Amino acid sequence: MNVFGVDIGGSGIKGAPVDLERGDLAEERRKVLTPHPATPASVADAVAEVVSDFGWSGPVGITFPGVVTDGVTRTAANVDKGWIDVDAQKLLGDRIGMEVTVLNDADAAGIAEMQFGAGRGRKGTVILLTFGTGIGSALFLDGRLVPNTELGHLELHGHDAEKHASTKVKEDEDLSWPHWARRVQKYLHHVEMLFSPELFIIGGGVSRKADKFVPLIEGVRAEIVPAELRNNAGIVGAAMAATER
Ligand code: BGC
Repeated sequence: MNVFGVDIGGSGIKGAPVDLERGDLAEERRKVLTPHPATPASVADAVAEVVSDFGWSGPVGITFPGVVTDGVTRTAANVDKGWIDVDAQKLLGDRIGMEVTVLNDADAAGIAEMQFGAGRGRKGTVILLTFGTGIGSALFLDGRLVPNTELGHLELHGHDAEKHASTKVKEDEDLSWPHWARRVQKYLHHVEMLFSPELFIIGGGVSRKADKFVPLIEGVRAEIVPAELRNNAGIVGAAMAATER
């Protein structure tokens, strides 16, 4: 069965039909630039453009880079503040004329990794962290998601952790891999102190370059592995969530 997945990110809005048996894109994904400002109305137009490009009709799952409860977007750390307390499920559903399911982007990536990627068959406490513009988190116990954990906003050195250890910060401050790895290490220690997970899955675009920083991380007891679905995890997880409605 195919279901459509859309991943709303700070720079791009990507979508494709997903083959839910294989946990992979059924067709090459389409990407449009995220409009600026990324207001609810302009993002809804961009999502509609991606979905209609495929002539899709059927269920659609959509990720959002903030807290989402019952389809309502509650926070907007890295997107337009106009998203706060918007019934995104209704807004996006009305705009594209289909039934949609909206969930947090890291939660979506986590769901996909637990089923089809690095977390397959893993029991106990597993934490997926996505490093990008911000830091997203998905917490699982025996494969079951605890949604909206927002561990990117833990305090580290008196700041939001994502303002210290995201890949955006690495780029903005032109940090070397070893320098950035030390920051990620501090962050993982902190998360480990709180949750003692068995496994950390490192997601986000930087998971492709895991060999440049994961081997440099010391003193973390949990196993640390890169995500396997890479940039498609959000799209796949969004589609999976749309079937669970
Ligand atoms: C948001 C999270 C999101 C993460 C990654 C954070 O700033 O608060 O909800 O998962 O960025 O996009």
